[in-house]
Amino acid sequence: MGAGIAEVCARAHTDVLVCESTRELAAAGRARILRSLDRGVSSGKLTEREREQAASRLRFTSDLGDFADRQFVCEAIVEDEAVKTQIFADLDKVVADPNAVLASNTSSIPIMKLGMSTQHAERVIGMHFFNPVPVLPLVELVTTLMTSPEVSERAETFAHDVLGKQVIRSADRSGFIVNALLVPYLLSAIRMVESGFASEEDVDKGMVLGCAHPMGPLKLADLVGLDTIKAIADSMYEEFKEPLYSPPSLLLRMVEAGRLGKKTGRGFYRYADAAR
Ligand code: 3HC
Repeated sequence: MGAGIAEVCARAHTDVLVCESTRELAAAGRARILRSLDRGVSSGKLTEREREQAASRLRFTSDLGDFADRQFVCEAIVEDEAVKTQIFADLDKVVADPNAVLASNTSSIPIMKLGMSTQHAERVIGMHFFNPVPVLPLVELVTTLMTSPEVSERAETFAHDVLGKQVIRSADRSGFIVNALLVPYLLSAIRMVESGFASEEDVDKGMVLGCAHPMGPLKLADLVGLDTIKAIADSMYEEFKEPLYSPPSLLLRMVEAGRLGKKTGRGFYRYADAAR
């Protein structure tokens, strides 16, 4: 999702610096964004010139120190509370402007936990995008008990006026609005397959043809990533202790097996273009 967020920011005429942990990952991230921009050109959404301009606004680094001059930072790393709190603590030391916004694209982790790992919890906010980011028009904004009204307003202005996204606001509860509704549905679909109730294909066909969803729940779980679904479920279960939020055994085994969905080429389905 980081690649998608960087792409929409660059397409919205913003100067973007992308940080990956290694040069190899930075190169892979750049290639992913360039492929998506090419796709925009071939589908007629972007001109060649717009693609070139967007690409020229993107710089890549593997040094977090390069973020010192940033006014708006959006974190989109792995859905792991320990890793995210560490990155917020580090970012807080690096980003010099005390009015800079530090946003997280977390799917489920309460934003307060990230804010309290910094010395400036008032500049920390949740800014949750949806996959694929260039296609889906929504951003969930999540303010905490500590987020300042100015930061909240700047994040909304950036999401709506600059990126052209629709904004909804959620209280700082694990899963926020969309995943609190979506994830139990995805987990229920996995339980249906696990118990032999129905096949993957029939579950998906049921929701696509019977409810006009653009894709069925198992294909969507593959798109989001099964490790991410498990991490969201763990976080929501920890907060609410609601049995429907607990990850089913089949999901745990698939994650352990490295069958993480589209990104690894295999999840509930097989994919030829794992890198897309
Ligand atoms: N990047 C850029 N554009 C993309 C894209 C991508 N990764 N994937 C698809 N598109 C564009 C295509 O170019 C195409 O544009 P066009 O209509 O102008 O030609 C359009 O989207 C439709 O794509 P396709 O024709 O290839 O395929 P589909 O019609 O099957 O649509 C889909 C694919 C957009 C993924 C659609 O199935 C969809 O919207 N699915 C639901 C996705 C969803 O529910 N996402 C939310 C997940 S939850 C989440 O992200 C939160 C997190 O915290 C877990």
